[in-house]
Amino acid sequence: MTVCAQKSYVFIDIRNRQDQQNYPVTQDSVPDAYAKDIAGVLLSQQDILHGLSAVSARINQDVQSLSNSQGIVLVTVLHGAMIFSADLMRRLYFPFQTDSVAVSSYEGIQSTGSYQVKKEIGHSIFGKDVIVVEDIVDTGGTLDFLIRHIEAKNPASLRTVALLDKVDRRKQQFAHIKADYTCFVIPDVFVIGYGLDYIGHYRGLPFVAVKKD
Ligand code: XMP
Ligand code: MG
Repeated sequence: MTVCAQKSYVFIDIRNRQDQQNYPVTQDSVPDAYAKDIAGVLLSQQDILHGLSAVSARINQDVQSLSNSQGIVLVTVLHGAMIFSADLMRRLYFPFQTDSVAVSSYEGIQSTGSYQVKKEIGHSIFGKDVIVVEDIVDTGGTLDFLIRHIEAKNPASLRTVALLDKVDRRKQQFAHIKADYTCFVIPDVFVIGYGLDYIGHYRGLPFVAVKKD
């Protein structure tokens, strides 16, 4: 049986932050064609750095309890988590292999509710300690699917990390689903940037923004 992290952590809940849509978009790296689609910056580069510090410190500490590890595999959920995962892995001070998985579930801004593995994990994770890195938990369906998909491969343990969680959007059937480590709980808005996309665009923005309707 797979052993999961004992406790789950939420580092920063910004749902009640007053200024959440009032940051000006001042970064030079925003193309004009994108700037007009941004309603506001939800998480600045500085905010993201705080989240990364908090989550990496906790994971570095928790991984020390895996004294008999047969190896740790960090699985990035493509494509949304690629930037978060790249930043996170450079703050992890233990040996690990990297891999990735891609699950399709989302068409435009509406979740379809059916899940499919589009790109399978390459390594054998049997008997290994797995850390899954996700961009965002929304209805909870993708994370629920991924947990079941990975547990079927019999890893020694499974930990899940999410940059963002839109807790208020959780479907009732997935009410129990949350990442073991969540950097930011955010309000129910559609977000882009820092890896998150709208039909493939905006992933390269260095902050998390709210998309204009
Ligand atoms: P579920 O509903 O399965 O959704 O928890 C998780 C997946 O949906 C995508 N998603 C988003 N992508 N901005 C995005 O760019 C968003 O606000 C958003 N909400 C959900 C995402 O791919 C995630 O893995
Ligand atoms: Mg996406």
